[in-house]
Formats: sequence, structure tokens, C-alpha cells
Amino acid sequence: MDFKKLNFPKAPYIKVAPPGPEAKRLIKIQSETEGNAVYYPKILPFVPDSGLGATLKDVDGNVYIDFSAGVSVLNFGHANPYVLGKATEQLKKITHTLDFPTVARTELVKRLIRLAPGEMNGNARVVFGGPTGSDAVESAVKLAKFYTKRMSMIAFHGSYHGQTTMALALTSEKKYREHYSPLGPEVSFAPYPNLYRNSFNENDPKKLVRLCVDYLTDMIESPDSGVSKPAAVIVEPIQGEGGIIVPPNDFLKEIEAVCRKNDVLLIADEIQTAFCRTGRWFASEYSGVNPDIITMAKSLGGIGLPISGIMYRKDLDIWGPGAHVGTFRGDAVAMAGGAAAIDFANDVSLLGHVNELGAAALSFLKDTAGESRFLGDVRGRGLFIGLEFVKDKRTKEPWKEFCDKLQAACFKKGVIIWRGGAYGNVIRLVPPLVITKELMLNGLETLKTEIKRLETSEK
Ligand SMILES: Cc1ncc(COP(=O)(O)O)c(C=O)c1O
Repeated sequence: MDFKKLNFPKAPYIKVAPPGPEAKRLIKIQSETEGNAVYYPKILPFVPDSGLGATLKDVDGNVYIDFSAGVSVLNFGHANPYVLGKATEQLKKITHTLDFPTVARTELVKRLIRLAPGEMNGNARVVFGGPTGSDAVESAVKLAKFYTKRMSMIAFHGSYHGQTTMALALTSEKKYREHYSPLGPEVSFAPYPNLYRNSFNENDPKKLVRLCVDYLTDMIESPDSGVSKPAAVIVEPIQGEGGIIVPPNDFLKEIEAVCRKNDVLLIADEIQTAFCRTGRWFASEYSGVNPDIITMAKSLGGIGLPISGIMYRKDLDIWGPGAHVGTFRGDAVAMAGGAAAIDFANDVSLLGHVNELGAAALSFLKDTAGESRFLGDVRGRGLFIGLEFVKDKRTKEPWKEFCDKLQAACFKKGVIIWRGGAYGNVIRLVPPLVITKELMLNGLETLKTEIKRLETSEK
């Protein structure tokens, strides 16, 4: 398929230096009417008007290349016409149906079970809950507790699982937790094998996996670890908010083995990594791991329609009717959008496109890192790529301020990028997957030029 048609024809196109007058007007109104917790426009003064594919138009007519995809919500592109058509048809018919069956619901669930990774494939059950990723995490943990009759959990350093109390308790970043601790639920954190930056000072993948897995084993098995035997271990197959941390391939299988041995469930949080983002339907596929429960949200609704759910092995289906209820248990429009997005991706061989572009982007960015003093690490899978900036490649001291400047400079040039990482020093390249190669390379050239320009000014 020619993805060109799915994007605005001319991008980037800066008509007026952003933020333009209309953007300034709306940002002012927002700051005078909404609470101070509003965050994104304080980092980038961007005021969206419309989106198409991997391009975005602001209210002053500027057009941007989108390297952020609403943090992986828009994998199939803004206003993807195929998905939009199917969702609109559903919108005109019925939207809210509690959990009564609808055609849209059945079609989405059938597809998810067909795509499920590992032993869950063709052998799964799906439960929808509230519309956010945090809701899915809550559901997964509730099910794990109900199944095992144990109440504590293990998560990982660098993890992000959401903002509701349980999801926040599973999130390691202190900036989110510090004013709310103790959060109540008993959660302990194990080390995640971050090859670039870890407290073991280990850069051999096999040795690092061993150290992390031994640590986890000790937490669970040792009589004096201070850690109660958990209901489940929850893991992101690739950490997203943590800074696109790709663990060595055998890590997930190894923690699966520890879980199996100890009768602990394994939850794969695929909220950010699923739906073709990493070049597979689910990132768990890379390692062949068999999670017991998978959480899904973000791109599940096809074109940004809010919906979340969990998928789990059939034998975990022990909840009775009404055991996990809520008003929003899967919006029919989002379900139609989700099913249509899966068909679209299959029809256009989206995975092949993601793998081809991902390889091209990684190779471009690794060359860029070779020429840069401050780009310390480039890593990722598919179109889920992180660039870690440091003050000195030897000491690896994180450099958030460089990323701040880089993000602002790219925005002025019409490229929208977002950051992540515990130190805020990782640029995340997460475009809608329908981006064309031309648009992507164009955006990457801008990124490279701005890195060079900022580096020169740092001399
Ligand atoms: C891996 C992961 N889990 C859970 C969440 C929480 O999702 P939400 O923000 O929709 O509650 C996120 C959000 O970024 C995430 O990346």
C-alpha cells in the first residue's frame, strides 16, 4: 500500500513560528481554566487541529511529522480512513452496550485470541474493564490475586504501569510516587536488565540476565528476603516510559521459569508495546515467553478510541459473573475501530513495513551516535526506539537539559518528539506506524541536524 496517501502531502511545513497566535490564545485559555496538573503543553506549546497518518496540523496551519503517536496510542495512524470508516459506521448504530455481546465486540475478541502470543494463542479469554491502561493493570492484578489467594506483587526497576493506586504502586519512578507513599499494596522491585545503565556495572547480556534473575529468585525463594511470596510478577517486555529499555532476549523466558517453579503468575504489560509497535503483534513474541495474563490498551482502539482489556489463559478463567464490573466495559465504537485496525494491518502487511523502517531508523541513528559526543546509546525494536543522551560517554552522566533543548528545537522545525527515561534523558522515537520511509528519514535528518547544532553550541 502507498502510505503516502495516509499522510498530509507536505510535512513538515512551518507557516508561522510555533506557537502561532491561535495556539497562544488557546494555551492561555487552558492555563486560566484548567488545573496546574496539565503537563504536555508546558513542555511543547503545540495545539493540534487535525492529524493524518504520521502527520499533525496545528491551529495556525503548521504541519509536523509526528514521532510520538500519542505515546503509542496511534500505531495505525491519525484518522486512518479504513479504521475511521468502520468506527463511524458503529458510532451511528450504537456506542454503549455494557458487556452485552455485539458484532463489534465478538469480531475484536476473535481477532485478539487469534493473535495472542505463546501458549495463549487460540486458547485465551478476554475481559474488558475501564478504558485506560491503568484499568487493565488493575484487572490483571485483581485476577492474579483472586487466582493465587496471595496479595503482594513484584515489579521491576524502571517500570511504568499507570497512575491508579495499584498501578502506581507497581511503578518504580519516584517522581510519580513520592507524595503518595506508602501506597498500600505490597510491591517489591527487582532489577531489569538495562544493558546501558545498571547497578551491577555489567555489560555482558548473559551475565546481566543471570544477575537480575538470581536477584528475583532470591526475592521469591529466600526465607529472609523480606518479600512475601507474590501473586504475580508484572513486566514490560520492553520498558517504555523507563526509556525504551530492550532486555536481552532470554530474560523473559528466565523469569517465566522462576515464576513457574514458584507457582507465581507472570503478567506481561503490553500496553505500550503491542499492536505492531515493535515489529511483532506483541513484544513478548521476541522471546517466546508465555505470560499468564497480558494487559492491553493504547492502540487497542484502532485510532485513539479509549478501551483496555486483559487477555489470559483459559484455565485462569475462574472469576464468576459480575466479579469484575464497571460502567465502561468496552465501548462498541472502540471495538469496531480495534477490529478494523487489525484487519488494516494484516491487509497492508504493516509488520513488514515496521521492521523495514525500524532497521533503517536504527542504522541511521547508530551512525548519528558514532558522530555525536552526547548520544550515548541507541536501542529499540521495530519503531520503538530510544536515544539516550549523556554529558560524557565515559561516565554516562544523564543529560536531561540537552534533551529538553533538542525537543524544543525539533518542534520549531516541525518534528514532534517525546522524552522518557528515569532521568528524562531519553528521546523516544515512536511514530505512527503508517509513516512513510521518506517522512521518517526527513524527520531523522532534522533530528540529526539539531543534535549537531546543539553540540556545536555546547563547545
Ligand atoms: C506499560 C504501560 N502500562 C500502563 C500504562 C498506563 O496506561 P494509561 O496511561 O492509559 O493508564 C502505560 C502508559 O503509558 C504504559 O506504558
